[in-house]
Amino acid sequence: MNTNAWTDPARLAARYPAHVATLRARHDRALEKAGAGHAVIFSGAPKLKFLDDNYYAFQANPHFVSWLPLTATPYCYLVYTPGETPVLVYYQEKDYWHLPPASPAGYWTGEFDIRVVHRVEDVAAHLPEAQEKCILLGEIADPAHAFGIERVNPTTVLNMLHYARSTKTDYELECMRAASRRGVTGHRAAEAAFREGRSEFDIHLAYCRAVGQTERQLPYGNIIALNSHGAVLHYQHQSAERPAEYRSFLIDAGASVNGYASDITRTHAFADDEFAGLVARVDQVQQEIVADVRAGADFAALHVGTHRRIAKLLAEFGIVRGSPEALLAYGVTSAFYPHGLGHLLGLQVHDVAGLAADENGTIIDRPSGHPYLRLTRRLVEGMVLTIEPGIYVIDMLLAELRGTPAHAMVDWERLEWLRPYGGIRIEDNVRVLADGCENLTRDAFAT
Ligand code: GLY
Ligand code: MN
Repeated sequence: MNTNAWTDPARLAARYPAHVATLRARHDRALEKAGAGHAVIFSGAPKLKFLDDNYYAFQANPHFVSWLPLTATPYCYLVYTPGETPVLVYYQEKDYWHLPPASPAGYWTGEFDIRVVHRVEDVAAHLPEAQEKCILLGEIADPAHAFGIERVNPTTVLNMLHYARSTKTDYELECMRAASRRGVTGHRAAEAAFREGRSEFDIHLAYCRAVGQTERQLPYGNIIALNSHGAVLHYQHQSAERPAEYRSFLIDAGASVNGYASDITRTHAFADDEFAGLVARVDQVQQEIVADVRAGADFAALHVGTHRRIAKLLAEFGIVRGSPEALLAYGVTSAFYPHGLGHLLGLQVHDVAGLAADENGTIIDRPSGHPYLRLTRRLVEGMVLTIEPGIYVIDMLLAELRGTPAHAMVDWERLEWLRPYGGIRIEDNVRVLADGCENLTRDAFAT
């Protein structure tokens, strides 16, 4: 299944030239600031496994993918010179062990001067002669792939490009809406597999089949957690054993379209029980937070505000007692909700520049006591980010409350009720608007 099943190529084609124009303008400014004349952007090289002749899954340089919907083409180079048509040096290996990349085709090709090469050493002929005027963006494990360019990944340029990347072009939004629809299709199939009483592994396969992506094409490893596994934030296994009893299902899984990710979490109760009631309340809280998303909102404040909401919710279900202020101050809410409210999303699932105050790389510190918050910025129109509050029974963290005033604030007997369900997380992807947001995830679920 190709991406055409999720996108309308005509809509992408219509928006792509403006996207490239935006990238050109961003690179013009970054090159000027760096005093450089050309940006050479390397797609990347496959990595061998230790003592082996097998490769890890290839992950293309996001700087390269920002220009081109090419996520599986190693050893390609994009050469950008202000005022000129960007040159794409397209590597098409003559290789009978693997299927070489298809010849360039599609809506994007008209924006580039494409030069096909069949040997990596032939790239050199297409790079600017003045190496000292070039900067190279990409991961260079083998110096030969730098072709003599000495300025690799200059921080000034990375800071500017990363900061700019947090607001999305119309083209990028098309890709991300499609990635949301694709992910939601997988979520529906996964929930159905859960209701049929399948194993985590089978649910995972049902997800991959529905989105039409293998594990190496997904933006991150699926989190498919039955029952108490839902307490593990990044639960990384998919057990092939069916549990004796089905209580809960936490699924955190996304999909990719042209290199752009969705990142979606849902939690399902197997029965219509009290846990289902708690899931519904977390869902409500999540939607209340989404309603506060708008340009100008301070994300760190939204995150801390979420702790207050979680404190009230835990008290409502009798799991903790005390005022929200005390529950925050003594670290009770941090034991139940130890991760950040959300993060920027785009070419990377945890996208870059979440802590950047400006394009010079100034950092906005996390509020103290919140070490895992990935976004501390004031929200700006056009940003895409996640909103993902949660509640979990994590014994490792609850044990730290022993011997502190927080211990008496937890109803430990009541906690035993929640333990077998693991945890709850609800996560949507939203685009910031001047006076609210577009919810890519709920829009996709609604269709
Ligand atoms: N989807 C995993 C995370 O956001 O951490
Ligand atoms: Mn996320």
